[in-house]
Amino acid sequence: MFSRALKPVASVAAQNGAKNFSTTSQKNFKVAVAGAAGGIGQPLALLLKQNPLVTRLALYDLAPVTPGVAVDLSHMDTPAKVTGHKGPEELAEAIKGADLVVIPAGVPRKPGMTRDDLFNTNASIVRDLAKCVAQNSPKAIMAIITNPVNSMVPIASEVLKKAGCYDPNRILGVTTLDVVRAAAFIGEINGVDPRSVSIPVIGGHSGVTIIPVLSQSQPAVKLTSQDQIKALTGRIQEAGTEVVKAKAGGGSATLSMAFAGARLAGAVLRGLKGESNVVECAYIKSDITESPYFANPVVLGKNGVEKNLGFGTLNAYEKELLKAAIPELLKNIKVGEEFVKNSK
Ligand code: 2OP
Repeated sequence: MFSRALKPVASVAAQNGAKNFSTTSQKNFKVAVAGAAGGIGQPLALLLKQNPLVTRLALYDLAPVTPGVAVDLSHMDTPAKVTGHKGPEELAEAIKGADLVVIPAGVPRKPGMTRDDLFNTNASIVRDLAKCVAQNSPKAIMAIITNPVNSMVPIASEVLKKAGCYDPNRILGVTTLDVVRAAAFIGEINGVDPRSVSIPVIGGHSGVTIIPVLSQSQPAVKLTSQDQIKALTGRIQEAGTEVVKAKAGGGSATLSMAFAGARLAGAVLRGLKGESNVVECAYIKSDITESPYFANPVVLGKNGVEKNLGFGTLNAYEKELLKAAIPELLKNIKVGEEFVKNSK
């Protein structure tokens, strides 16, 4: 996905291309990964180590293996300097000076569990990480992968509000995997390279809150009957569960989630760098629907979310999906907000 800088420095500059090259824009970013030793964290770190915009990669986790993961990655011949930080006493150091904090920390689903079943364990993890971001790098963009994403983004937001450093444009829930899955499945159906498929997935990141806007797919999805559209919609909504079942107790999606997280992280960094027209779907503070947080395409810029692009026109079926998603989103958001209200 990212090209390696194998050549001397002069040709690295040439690789930037005239279009995006600017002598003033920042190209050196520190990215912290919280939960870096886990199933998502390790492949995510592997992908981030290959991103030329990342010059410092701080890996944080509770697991004793964390410093070793950092040493392992540090042997890759890419520019990012990797550091490992183990345990709560080393968290602040990992977060300090970070431009982007990506959070896959927490426990994954087992068969039969919904993402909401993870709330009790993961809520305090995200709350404490958000507190640390507020104290050590309040301007950092947070990209939250930890489930249930629909509730974790409100948790981080409330923590930053309490700390007096809340900027809604800097807290994103990662829904990129839903977009990636939709494009993969449509690519298969249409017999085209999935990377050529553009498909917005809006709403949130669990079950009925995942709304693939198939009517806006480019190229158009080659399905004719409404039953086929419903089946594809259902598959995208339950794709995470498809992985949980296939892993038979061994966890949930890790590799595809790392791929999706790295793509969103890369887009955030390109926005921070000043590149224009960087668009990805993300779950953010929103006033587009009755839900105070909502995912849809956004423009990423020098301060995080630069513009909410909304979701355009939905067909009758997609309107129904939206109607079903809103109460669930409201419930998920309330649970997150209440959790922070009731915690110290
Ligand atoms: C998924 O969608 C892990 O939430 C993640 O598979």
